Amino acid sequence: MNTSSANFDQWIAGLKKWHGWLQLSAERAYMHAEEEYNSHYGVNAPDPAEGEGLCNLLKTHAVDTSGPALEIGCGTGFLTYGTALHYPGPDLLITDPSPAFLQITREQFDANFAGRARRHFAILNADDLGQLPDRMFSVISMRSTLHHILRYEDFIADTARCLRPNGALIMGAEPCEAGYLLMAAVAQSIPNALKAAGVEMQPAWTAKLTEFTDTVQYCCNRDIDKTYAEDKHFFSPHELSDLGAKHGLDLKFLPTAQFRDFAPPYIPGFHCFSRFFLIYMEFCMRFEPAFMEQIRRHLMPQLKFIDDCHRVHAGPAITGVFLFRKES
Ligand SMILES: C[S@@+](CC[C@H](N)C(=O)[O-])C[C@H]1O[C@@H](n2cnc3c(N)ncnc32)[C@H](O)[C@@H]1O
Repeated sequence: MNTSSANFDQWIAGLKKWHGWLQLSAERAYMHAEEEYNSHYGVNAPDPAEGEGLCNLLKTHAVDTSGPALEIGCGTGFLTYGTALHYPGPDLLITDPSPAFLQITREQFDANFAGRARRHFAILNADDLGQLPDRMFSVISMRSTLHHILRYEDFIADTARCLRPNGALIMGAEPCEAGYLLMAAVAQSIPNALKAAGVEMQPAWTAKLTEFTDTVQYCCNRDIDKTYAEDKHFFSPHELSDLGAKHGLDLKFLPTAQFRDFAPPYIPGFHCFSRFFLIYMEFCMRFEPAFMEQIRRHLMPQLKFIDDCHRVHAGPAITGVFLFRKES
């Protein structure tokens, strides 16, 4: 056993326990029912591709993976499963503020699971990283979680402190401000486009549309106390790049990329704006089928215009992978 894994073991052994979990923060339930999360997104089996893609990216970018990895906001384990299968380091600390999510994630692993890294589970709110030891982790990973963290500037500073030299903070599926703003602007044109086509907006359609555009405005705004909101922030890659640089983290931003793009069969999931927009409204915003049909029929000119601006290059960046390398 090398000194660093001995340090990690010692630290883990000294942590408080709560109902069988390691406890680094007070537990907190998710805003929506945890047990409905997978069915909402149509997930019905553990999926190794996200975590495999993440580990492949770490390798491609020569990130040091010899020490423990920390996953923040594991949810139902969508990223965790493949990471646990492919992470080459000795330990994986899997965390979430919600014990119900930790339980769902832990149940993915049966006795025959092949991953080498030892798995540890802890309750952790990312606003409490201050108590994690300096230079403990080689990798800090997360997916679709940064936008839930209240003080994300402090979070980036804390991750920089907890990472080892040549380690990395790697984040996927985070919302980019300009891309979401574009989606909201297109969404706001729906009522007029339908009116011009002689289609009457149903009150339920208006309510869903307003829910989306209000959320975008809320997440873009920076003059609101967001303590009690679940979804809080949208990000600009250039701002995150400046923030990282302030703390010795060098950002490589991969626009429109998802972790699974870097796992077999290596096919990028993002095709074009129109497809992302329609899938998002149908599955994430849950616009009803009759509304979606009218959008597909009457919004094509607006959507096609944006697709035609990105015929041979990635964009617009609605989301992407953020890989922050810690300086050596
Ligand atoms: C949108 S879900 C993503 C879950 C999972 N990573 C995935 O990709 O499916 C956001 C996750 O972040 C967690 N979360 C919310 N606020 C958090 C915080 N302050 N610190 C750490 N995790 C948080 C939630 O409990 C939830 O599991």
